[in-house]
Amino acid sequence: MTTPSIQRHKVLFVAGLIALQGLLLLVFRFEPRQPAPCQRPDCLRPVHEPRLNDSAGARPPPSAEWAAGTPPDWTRARPSSWPELVTALFNYIEKPHARCDRAARIGGQPNYKDRKFDGYKWVCLDPALGLLQTNSCLIYSFGVDHDWSFDDNVQRLQCEIHAFDPSIGRPDHRRSKHISFHNVGIGGKNEVRWVPVGALRRRQWDVRTYADIVRHLGHENRTVHYLKIDVEGSEWPMLAQMMTQTPQLLLNVRQLAVEVHMQSGSRGRPSLAAWKGYLETFLRLERMGFRLFSSEMNPYHKPSRLFADIDRQGARVYEMVWLHQPWK
Ligand SMILES: *[C@@H]1O[C@H](CO)[C@@H](O)[C@H](O)[C@H]1NC(C)=O
Ligand SMILES: *[C@@H]1O[C@H](CO)[C@@H](O)[C@H](O)[C@H]1NC(C)=O
Repeated sequence: MTTPSIQRHKVLFVAGLIALQGLLLLVFRFEPRQPAPCQRPDCLRPVHEPRLNDSAGARPPPSAEWAAGTPPDWTRARPSSWPELVTALFNYIEKPHARCDRAARIGGQPNYKDRKFDGYKWVCLDPALGLLQTNSCLIYSFGVDHDWSFDDNVQRLQCEIHAFDPSIGRPDHRRSKHISFHNVGIGGKNEVRWVPVGALRRRQWDVRTYADIVRHLGHENRTVHYLKIDVEGSEWPMLAQMMTQTPQLLLNVRQLAVEVHMQSGSRGRPSLAAWKGYLETFLRLERMGFRLFSSEMNPYHKPSRLFADIDRQGARVYEMVWLHQPWK
């Protein structure tokens, strides 16, 4: 063999390597596994728990109550004593009354510590709420922690999803084609909070009002098809702020899912004012046309007698979902 021939082989070999590398880059640059479009409720099963039956546990609302053209007389529910308040509050929570013919349970995964199934949300797929009927559906998800199961599953609906959480130490980023993550929290006012992380470190949380976030994203005139809020107690100042300062933004929301946290109070003494505030929040939502669609006790809470001298049982944490179905 002559020297030029060896060199030609070398050149060919290197050229081949370069071509192969280019081909590999081309193949792996494009993520081939985007979630397939889905227009049916039966493909909304959580990826982590394929045995889940999406309709299991759905509570069909009493349709006669819904059919009435006037809202229930919420003004009667103005309790002043603890027993009246606790009874009225849990009576409300335990009686979802919105109408939904196609309910789906989206997301959820076994908790990494004790395997309880948590993190899913009830979603109503009825055409009137428009989630499947639009090509510009918008979902906000406040409070992710380490459970992306709702966000990852709901992206099969091909919506624009914005997820927010200042507590997990991640910068703003694009999680997928459909999900944008924002390192921001939600609350009743714009503020910077310093939150302890372990014994020595503190983390800075950028907390904003709902209006501030919506305006920042340029969404003030858009329908929000699903608003998920799981923010460990900040839901009360957040909702109060929304209802009083920017009710028009709340009225842009079609479905509102809130994990509500009701306090046991400092040194075992809950505040009557705080508990009245919870009921008042629910009743204000109803007056604005949000009807309770689903409510479930958080899997970590059992019904119990929360107050020593009141028989009515209840829990402190519920997953509640309202549908915007204004009274005629
Ligand atoms: C799902 O649950 C509903 C109501 O409990 C039941 O009627 C239906 O047969 C179940 N479907 C499957 C596939 O298990
Ligand atoms: C929203 O609508 C109002 C009133 O029509 C308009 O002034 C405003 O510029 C709109 N905002 C956006 C972001 O489109």
